[in-house]
Amino acid sequence: MTHARQHSIRVVAHRGASEEAPEHTLAAYVKAIEDGADALECDVRLTADGHLVCVHDRRVNRTSNGRGAVSALELADLAALDFGSWKDRYESPDWGDPEYTSVLTLERLLELVADAGRPVGLAIETKHPTRWAGQVEERLVRQLRRFGLADPATPEESAVRIMSFSARSLHRVAAAVPTVPTVYLTQFVSPRLRDGRLPAGSRIAGPSIRILRSNPTFVERAHRAGHEVHVWTVDDPDDVDLCVRLGVDAIITNRPRQVLSQLGRT
Ligand code: G3P
Ligand code: CA
Repeated sequence: MTHARQHSIRVVAHRGASEEAPEHTLAAYVKAIEDGADALECDVRLTADGHLVCVHDRRVNRTSNGRGAVSALELADLAALDFGSWKDRYESPDWGDPEYTSVLTLERLLELVADAGRPVGLAIETKHPTRWAGQVEERLVRQLRRFGLADPATPEESAVRIMSFSARSLHRVAAAVPTVPTVYLTQFVSPRLRDGRLPAGSRIAGPSIRILRSNPTFVERAHRAGHEVHVWTVDDPDDVDLCVRLGVDAIITNRPRQVLSQLGRT
């Protein structure tokens, strides 16, 4: 499948190269960078002692050998856990280094990207931020500033985007750092969204791939309203083809190597 927009589609590694390596670990992100991903997606949550860590679920039970809610654990508690061995198919030369499968702080991920040796973008998702009344966003914005990522002069390839299902969270981010693009994630199409209209403070539409399967005009309408479209989570080759046909701007996938190959970029 070829298409005029094909080469401009950014490939974003969802939780790292998470089909092959344990999600949200340094191992998964190193692999995604090696595979050529344009950007890295991660979810951030706040620990009990105020650190932003990259964990998807509310609790650590599924992806580590520990138990409990991230919000009830301190960073030192999380650092004692193994976030790699639940993923039984993974083999890496770096597997022996515990850092590769320890809990990943957002700070460590930002360091990795800063030292990647090539421009790599970021798509950071705030998880359940309403519970923290702005603390997630405040700490996130502080980190972005520290790493120079809120600078309007940041080139497109190294840009960071903040994503959320919470319009309120995106509104907070937009108010603090208006230059950083925000992505409004959604699994449902409201009449407003159908017309390409996003909540205040959101700049990019972030529909689930299911939305595009049943609403083939969604991308066109969003573009007409001036919004890019970043689609998740696109792993099936037929869905990649659909994204190409519809002219989406970014594909968020657990399989960056395979998607890049399908797009003719490897
Ligand atoms: O990239 C957006 C996507 O990650 C949202 O869903 O549950 O995988 O965080 P989830
Ligand atoms: Ca996510």
